[in-house]
Amino acid sequence: MGIHDDIERVILTDAEVHARVGELAAAIERDYPAEDTPLLLVAVLRGAVLFVADLARAIQMPVEIDFMAVSSYGSSTKSSGVVRILKDLDEDIEGRDVLVVEDILDTGLTLKYLLRNLASRKPRSLEVMTLLYKEGKQRVPIDCKYVGFPIPDEFVVGYGLDYAERYRNLPYIGVLKPEVYAD
Ligand code: IMP
Ligand code: MG
Repeated sequence: MGIHDDIERVILTDAEVHARVGELAAAIERDYPAEDTPLLLVAVLRGAVLFVADLARAIQMPVEIDFMAVSSYGSSTKSSGVVRILKDLDEDIEGRDVLVVEDILDTGLTLKYLLRNLASRKPRSLEVMTLLYKEGKQRVPIDCKYVGFPIPDEFVVGYGLDYAERYRNLPYIGVLKPEVYAD
């Protein structure tokens, strides 16, 4: 059985995501002057990988890409707010313009930790772009400069987002059939 068979409903099609990624890329080009040191896109592994790959390809000016991996302790379906850095940046961000690229902003606990950590390294600017934003779920306020799509509070998969490490390779974003969680 293929991954598409497990999807109950598509929330955002491939074409909708693609179009929005183009708009976000244009917003970056407008907001970050090309004559400065290139903007550093910091993608949070692993969910933001597909997003940052498409985003970077849609940007016409020089950008650099670096990665961070963080892990929350405890249950995998709920954020604990306790975060561990599994992979740190390779780049020194002091004096740099940094844009953190996230797949989804849920409770905000992971990002809050990450932003505090990155801010202590004295970047010139530090902003957040998230593809998806779960409305009404934030437990801590996060100032998010760019939001791809606000979505209702439902568990979604695809375009980088996983359920038990699967479905990241779906080209669209959707909701799983309930029986998928059952087994
Ligand atoms: P937060 O700390 O609650 O904001 O956690 C955000 C992280 O939880 C995201 O980067 C995702 O890895 C994961 N997450 C939150 N909601 C979903 C979802 O609907 N589908 C898949 N992963 C999710
Ligand atoms: Mg995840």
